[in-house]
Amino acid sequence: MARAEITTPDALENERLTDAALRPSRLDEFVGQAKVKESLQIAIDAAKQRKEPLDHALFFGPPGLGKTTLALLMAKELDVNIRTTSGPVLERPGDLVGMLTGLKPGDILFIDEVHRLRPALEEFLYPAMEEFRVDVRIADGPHAQTLPMQLERFTLIGATTRFGLLTPPLRARFGLVERLHYYPPDDLVQIITRSAGILGVGADAAGVATSAAAAARRASRTGSSSACAITRRSAPAEESLRPSPPRP
Ligand SMILES: Nc1ncnc2c1ncn2[C@@H]1O[C@H](COP(=O)(O)OP(=O)(O)O)[C@@H](O)[C@H]1O
Ligand SMILES: [Mg+2]
Repeated sequence: MARAEITTPDALENERLTDAALRPSRLDEFVGQAKVKESLQIAIDAAKQRKEPLDHALFFGPPGLGKTTLALLMAKELDVNIRTTSGPVLERPGDLVGMLTGLKPGDILFIDEVHRLRPALEEFLYPAMEEFRVDVRIADGPHAQTLPMQLERFTLIGATTRFGLLTPPLRARFGLVERLHYYPPDDLVQIITRSAGILGVGADAAGVATSAAAAARRASRTGSSSACAITRRSAPAEESLRPSPPRP
């Protein structure tokens, strides 16, 4: 693979394919973040026991730490459907009506980059989060009318890299707020070993250590940088994860 291709910030074709396979789909496959997992497990158990939807949850922390992965696996753990969208793609409250009304009891609506919701959308979400109701505008202008619509009791999961940019009223409406932390080297080793197993590439101890060090050096110590270290190193597939020769 050409060096330029290896260093591109864009997702490569083989990465898109492996991304889904690499995402842990159960809480106990999710490496590290012990405190977060513990409180999520408690919340999941309580919701199941009470047969109630999970509290609205907010995951925050730098990119690549596993926020989206956690949202997706929460749906699996709770055995509910999940719909995903993100703050910047939503333009008008109308964009959310279809998604919200399509949710069944307990289903999850995942909003990535939730700090980038427009103010009008944020306000539209408040009654949805609190009373499972939306006020749908059915006419504009001086005779503007709104029609209240009842929703099923759903769970909103928000993810953000910029916790500080969330407005206090939105922040206050999340019952579960979990901060993800950078991974220590031991966790990176575990993530890489797990990923190598899924991809079926040989990973000897030295190769894993080098990949973990590379992920740590990226000043990121994120799950995705370790996944990236391994997928980019694993192409072509038969190449094993031996330490790469020094760069020129
Ligand atoms: N704790 C973890 N255990 C295993 N793999 C992880 C973990 N966190 C992240 N990953 C890997 O990193 C990738 C990126 O994670 P993602 O959930 O998209 O991060 P975020 O949404 O926080 O930017 C995932 O596809 C997964 O392969
Ligand atoms: Mg994400």
